Amino acid sequence: MPLKRNLDVQGAIHGAWLMVLLFSCVVDAHQFDDTFDPITRRALVAGTQGRGGGHPIDPGHPADPAPGHPAPGHPAPGPNYKVVDISRFPPAKGDGKTDSTPGIMKAWDEVCNCSAPSKLLIPKGTWLAAELEFRGPCASPQIMIEIQGVLLGKPDKQAFPRGRWINIIKIHRVIVTGGGTINAQGEKTWHTRGIGESGKPLADTFVLAQCNHSRVENINLVNGKGFNMKVFEAEDVTISNLHITAPDESPNTDGIHIGRIKDVKIFDSVIGTGDDCISIGDGSIDIHVKNVMCGPGHGISIGSLGRFQYETDVRNILIENCTFIRTQNGARIKTFHDSPAIAAHNITYCNLNMIDVYNPIIIDQNYAVNKKTPSKVKLSDIKFRNIRGTTWSNIAINLNCSSTVPCQGVELFDVDLRYTGNNTVDRITHSACTHANAKFGGIMVPPPCKQ
Ligand SMILES: *[C@@H]1O[C@H](CO)[C@@H](O)[C@H](O)[C@H]1NC(C)=O
Ligand SMILES: *[C@@H]1O[C@H](CO)[C@@H](O)[C@H](O)[C@H]1NC(C)=O
Ligand SMILES: *[C@@H]1O[C@H](CO)[C@@H](O)[C@H](O)[C@H]1NC(C)=O
Ligand SMILES: *[C@@H]1O[C@H](CO)[C@@H](O)[C@H](O)[C@H]1NC(C)=O
Ligand SMILES: *[C@@H]1O[C@H](CO)[C@@H](O)[C@H](O)[C@H]1NC(C)=O
Ligand SMILES: *[C@@H]1O[C@H](CO)[C@@H](O)[C@H](O)[C@H]1NC(C)=O
Repeated sequence: MPLKRNLDVQGAIHGAWLMVLLFSCVVDAHQFDDTFDPITRRALVAGTQGRGGGHPIDPGHPADPAPGHPAPGHPAPGPNYKVVDISRFPPAKGDGKTDSTPGIMKAWDEVCNCSAPSKLLIPKGTWLAAELEFRGPCASPQIMIEIQGVLLGKPDKQAFPRGRWINIIKIHRVIVTGGGTINAQGEKTWHTRGIGESGKPLADTFVLAQCNHSRVENINLVNGKGFNMKVFEAEDVTISNLHITAPDESPNTDGIHIGRIKDVKIFDSVIGTGDDCISIGDGSIDIHVKNVMCGPGHGISIGSLGRFQYETDVRNILIENCTFIRTQNGARIKTFHDSPAIAAHNITYCNLNMIDVYNPIIIDQNYAVNKKTPSKVKLSDIKFRNIRGTTWSNIAINLNCSSTVPCQGVELFDVDLRYTGNNTVDRITHSACTHANAKFGGIMVPPPCKQ
């Protein structure tokens, strides 16, 4: 349900608990489609997944060769790239009308085959394209994709049979940059995906998979059909200076989703979408999010966790110095009922600024309760520190943990959240705890909940 609709409904309501009830009905449409893995979009056959294994997105491809470069880590700045400009490859044309896909793919072949560092250049102009698959392993030891102009996604769903638009896969040390824009024109297809509908999600805009030691920086993403960005099955990925926009009411247009990944930094970005600004899925380890401005959207979320039996643990997550503006949630951890017994631990949200946020601090282990068995995702060592600002809900802190595996080591320290909603009866903030075992310290507005 889009936030706008909630605002209208809520204008007429003067009961804090009713507001909470309303929000417990807010669900994201993508959660109900269990026919394929939400990260890889691999089709799932019920009951065949094992626990804890890797999930290669195409087992048919040979393993990556041993890295040609001695030291892992970021490439030295400024190698001399061989530049391959897409405008030299007919039919590519920057007129916003010609389908440039075949030209871009020919240019890509040259980039990938080059034995020296090479760069795919999308120059100024508007380049219309269908599915673009940039797949390694490549001969080139270092690849850059530089987007100076606008990549414009074809508006029709049929152009994206695999559910992805730009798919960068198995290219280690890739850099995507350039200051340009990736516009998926989602506004032309969102209406075909009813909110709450259980059909397949629309195509993701930008997918980076199995690309270790890579960077995505200085890019604008506009109106993803589905998720704007998905990054998975890699280690050492830095994402910075992104600007992601989609309207508040667009369905499931998450900003950046990561999962099954290690050592990710997301810095200095502005994200406003119709779903989570950032969502951190299962198997995420050593994640650092810093200086992100989120809004509109559903906040920066860990999860949803526990929807599938094969999911693995999440740990060492630090989210700091972020601002949330009129988002549905701020700092959120959400887990499904009927989950595997996985764990999420060592998660810190700190130095956050909330501006008119509905659920500034929320743990929801009863996310989308369509099954009775309580969540078995064990949450421990969860810290919320120095979180300040205003909230549109009276329940500013909601720690709703699992009855079978209560939360452990939840700490809140220096929280100051003031009510700015329309409730004329109750104008103070409250905290609510269920199986939370939380400790409180420092300034506490709202005051600690009774446990
Ligand atoms: C790239 O290399 C492959 C295999 O060596 C070859 O089949 C293909 O024609 C090459 N493409 C270009 C554009 O050179
Ligand atoms: C890339 O990172 C993954 C995850 O850490 C690791 O399993 C894989 O071996 C790495 N691949 C290469 C080629 O280094
Ligand atoms: C907890 O996570 C932080 C990063 O968020 C990391 O610096 C720290 O070492 C982790 N603690 C443990 C005990 O692993
Ligand atoms: C925190 O974010 C603000 C912008 O919201 C920025 O001006 C400031 O430099 C950041 N602080 C740190 C320590 O990065
Ligand atoms: C906690 O979750 C339960 C189950 O969904 C729900 O009934 C209850 O209202 C929630 N508590 C709060 C304070 O949101
Ligand atoms: C409060 O009411 C105003 C005026 O009707 C409306 O614009 C605003 O969105 C409402 N705020 C909330 C939190 O519902």
